[in-house]
Amino acid sequence: MKGNGEAQKAGEGAVARRLKINVLRYNPQDPESRPHLQTFEVDEAPSMTLFVALNDIRDRQDPSLQFDFVCRAGICGSCAMLIDGRPGLACRTLTSSLGEQITLAPLPFFELIGDLSVNTGKWMRGMSERLEAWIHTSEEVDVRRLEERMEPELAEQIYELERCIECGCCLAACGTARMRENFVGAVGLNKIARLRLDPRDQRADADYYELIGDDNGVFGCMSLLGCQDVCPKDLDLQTQIAYMRRKMLRAAVFPSR
Ligand code: SF4
Ligand code: F3S
Ligand code: FES
Repeated sequence: MKGNGEAQKAGEGAVARRLKINVLRYNPQDPESRPHLQTFEVDEAPSMTLFVALNDIRDRQDPSLQFDFVCRAGICGSCAMLIDGRPGLACRTLTSSLGEQITLAPLPFFELIGDLSVNTGKWMRGMSERLEAWIHTSEEVDVRRLEERMEPELAEQIYELERCIECGCCLAACGTARMRENFVGAVGLNKIARLRLDPRDQRADADYYELIGDDNGVFGCMSLLGCQDVCPKDLDLQTQIAYMRRKMLRAAVFPSR
């Protein structure tokens, strides 16, 4: 027969548990700091997310614990981390979907700020600048054109790619990104795919190819598919990358078509 404590439900039907959360701690600013796992115990609550558990730890056990969040709703991308070795969003991960022992580490690939906090913003900015990932129009274009209506189907296609929240999970899961420091990753290739669709961007295909037609772009991707597996927005990244690669190869072989 179950006791009162055991009868309490956590999340979707699971019995309340005492979670052991192992966090990889390291502060690169502190010369004394050494990377180590620190274990915190947290009582699981119904519908608890990892974000809530981490706040609980910071509020009650260790105010020095570093991790990022802004929206708590899977929109800003700032709470991405390695959750039991897999990139994901802390604010969208229910503790009930994980075991009683949970291991958290910062996303690899990005500059570490401290503990679970990494500087994705700096990398994303640099990548956007390299790819000139903004709408290019000629000076003569009436700015009102930027507000022009477009076909709903096209707007929907663009919107689908715009759902990327720049969380960095795709890069953390990508073998090519580990080997090539300047690889723009699925997030960068997705940006170009989105701009190619946008009629307000007046660049020709050749201009895009100039930006991503090398080993740091579409030809660096080895179709490892980690990006698509972990993307919290379920973007169809592989189809976009494969499509651009095919188009570029065709343009190289048949330049006049
Ligand atoms: Fe995150 Fe997906 Fe965008 Fe990559 S493509 S940054 S995984 S939302
Ligand atoms: Fe990396 Fe995704 Fe290509 S994981 S190798 S960008 S398919
Ligand atoms: Fe914004 Fe998690 S806090 S995506």
